[in-house]
This record gives sequence, structure tokens and C-alpha cells, in this order.
Amino acid sequence: MTASASIVLKDVKLPDSRVVDVSITKGIVKHIGAGLLSDQIIDCSNYLVIPAAIDMHVHMRGGFQSSKEDWNSGSKSALAGGVTLVVDQPNTIPPIATPSIFIERVKDAQANSLCHFSINSGVAEHTPFESMWKTGALAFGEIFFAPSSYGDAIGVALLKKVFSRISTLGALVTIHAEKISPIPDYNLISHNEARSVHGEALAVSEVNRCNQKNCRVHFCHLSSADSIDLAMGSVEVAPHHLFLSCENFDPKNTFGKVNPPLRTERERIALWKRWSQIDVIASDHAPHTINDKQIPFCDAPSGIPGVETMVPMLVNKVLEKKISIRSVIEKTSTNPAVLLGIQSAGFNVGDRADFAFYHKSPVRISADILHSKCGWTPYEDQMAVFPEFVLMDGVTVYQDGDFIKGLPRWFPGSGYSQ
Ligand code: DOR
Ligand code: ZN
Repeated sequence: MTASASIVLKDVKLPDSRVVDVSITKGIVKHIGAGLLSDQIIDCSNYLVIPAAIDMHVHMRGGFQSSKEDWNSGSKSALAGGVTLVVDQPNTIPPIATPSIFIERVKDAQANSLCHFSINSGVAEHTPFESMWKTGALAFGEIFFAPSSYGDAIGVALLKKVFSRISTLGALVTIHAEKISPIPDYNLISHNEARSVHGEALAVSEVNRCNQKNCRVHFCHLSSADSIDLAMGSVEVAPHHLFLSCENFDPKNTFGKVNPPLRTERERIALWKRWSQIDVIASDHAPHTINDKQIPFCDAPSGIPGVETMVPMLVNKVLEKKISIRSVIEKTSTNPAVLLGIQSAGFNVGDRADFAFYHKSPVRISADILHSKCGWTPYEDQMAVFPEFVLMDGVTVYQDGDFIKGLPRWFPGSGYSQ
């Protein structure tokens, strides 16, 4: 009997330049090589085909913050940017700090998300770590080692305790490492000084010292070369620190306000020089409405949207031959999967058949082609290559601006027990 597949991706160019057919059955890559028999064949010869991304740092909002974003709009934004799995951060209102709040969050995502999702546990003085782990938390954090929008900071003593408790679970702890100087913070220049690269590096060193139990640590959105060099753990960088600097904006412009802050052009260039040391690119998608942002600088919330533009801007860099396609796949898909213990999407038999198909034509980014509820982007006019269509579990869930409901799933952490 001849083997068959539900769908065959024909003439896919792999990162090593081999051209193969990818045969998919039941949402999983079944065979690589000459295509199996199938009723559905997609000619990929004109596309850059990339395993879909896991964005391991998004703030999907919802609840009281639904005017900024919710699971429906946020997941659409993800899919249209080639991301099929998002990891939601726990600094919601109220924070995800008890099993019952966690379960409510899962239900909300199950009812409204169009893409796969995972949810992290918050971390505070009385967090019941073992119960959160059993309830399905994927990881713990982001832990705020300095306060940020909707996030209270925890100190050294508590962080040591947290590392010690979580190391026994074998879970990943994710950290927002910053140190704030008490100076007036009234524009993007002073914001960069108050939450300086030096402060970030000091915070990273302090976190290293606190981790006496060798807990698995992941440093979120590191924004400088020095911090990357110091980090004892996996390193995440956000696209806004690679593609934007504080010098790109009028200093009073609150739309560039984010924590850690946008750095100088010099720092931004130095950050690109650490490309090979970066494990993960994640968006830190932190949508705020235009109204929320249009208030005096010192009161404006920090955070910028980015889940939809992250991979497209990186793909544009690939087409410009500045970075390799292999490195983009590693940092946006394979490495996050390995760190989080999630089955990878990709070109190996047994991988999840989540792929995004990019037609190699760059366009200018503008807010009106994006899907986040917040309605603005800091990348206006930058070049990007958006996917034309996206498969999730071997099924088309996005095509040319339209969304087709697939079967989005919750990916709980390895401690989950029903
Ligand atoms: O700028 C930020 N905004 N940094 C964070 O760490 C939190 C985020 C938010 O949730 O708005
Ligand atoms: Zn953060």
C-alpha cells in the first residue's frame, strides 16, 4: 500500500538549501523527502517557508484591560505575524497568582484564542508554587526585579527563596532584570538614564548571585551587550531593542516608552553584535491604547506592541542578507520550544506542522494593516515581510488577512496533573 498524507508542502527550501517535500498527517510532520500521496498539495517554490514561531513573552491583557487587547485580537495579531503559540505573562489585573485565577485565564483563552497558548504563573510572597505548577503553569514569571507597568518588584531575599522553592520543581523562572535610579523621569532620554544599561547589568549580576540552587533562569528582554555577556541563563531580546532607539523618537513621545527603555543608537548596534549569543527573540507584546499613552510622560504606561511585526521584520533582515534564516528559526521557534518543554514546529519527522509562508516581497509597516486592538505601532514605515498564509497543526488558520478557526490548544507545563 502506498503511504499517504493529508497535505504535502511541495518544493520547500530548507535552511541548508536542500529542496524537499514535507508530508503532514494529523497535524504532525510525517515524512521529509519525496512527497507522499495527497489530495492537498501546496507548491512552495515561491515561498520562504518557516516553522511558525513561539512568542514566549506576550501580554494578552483581557478582563479589565480588554480595551488594550484581548485573546481574540491578540491571537489574530500573532497568527498574522507567523506566530502560532504565545506565552501569556501573569501581570494581568488581578495578577495570575492563585490556581483559581489561573484556571479562569485558561478558560478565557480556550474560549477566545485563535492560536495555541501557554500561561505563566505570577510570583509574589505567598504564591503557592507547587499548586500553580500542578495547575499547568508553563514557567514562573516574568518576575519583576524592578517595578514596571502592572508589575510589583520583588527583592533579593524573596528572589532567593523563590529560586530555592522552584528549583525543586525543575521549572523555568523568567526574570525582568532592571535597577532604577531615583532621578526625574520626564522623557525618553531620562527614562533611559533612570533605568540604565548599567542598572540592568547590575540587576543581572544580582540575579546570578541569588540563584544559589541552580534554578533554570531565563532573562527576559535584555537590552544591552553587557547584560548579555553577564547573564547566567538563557537570553531573550525584544525586537524593539534591535529595531528602535530612543533617538528615533521625539524625547517627549510616550509611544516609545517601554521597560527596559529604548537605548541609544550605539547600544542598539552593539546589541546586534551579540546576535549569536541570543537564545530567544520574543516580542514583549505590551499593548496600551492610544488614549492610555497620550498623557504626560511620567504617568504614561510603559510598553509597546510587537507580536505581529517581530518575525516579519526579522524575515526582512534575512532577505537583506544581514542574518541567516537558520538563526531566525532557532531564536523564534526551536529554542523557545526546547526551553519551555514544548514540542517543536519544524522540518523533522514528528514536529508540529505549524508553518508560515512568506512571499518574498517587503512592505512598509503601518498600523492599519495590523490586528492588535491598540491601533498603533512604533515600527511605522519600517520594512517587513508578512506571511501570506499560516498553517497550525497542518490546517490553514490565516490566509491573506482572513482567519479560519482551527483547533487552538492550551500547552500546560510539565508539572500539570489533572
Ligand atoms: O514596558 C513594559 N510593559 N515592560 C513590562 O515589563 C511590562 C509591560 C506591560 O505589561 O505593559
Ligand atoms: Zn518585562
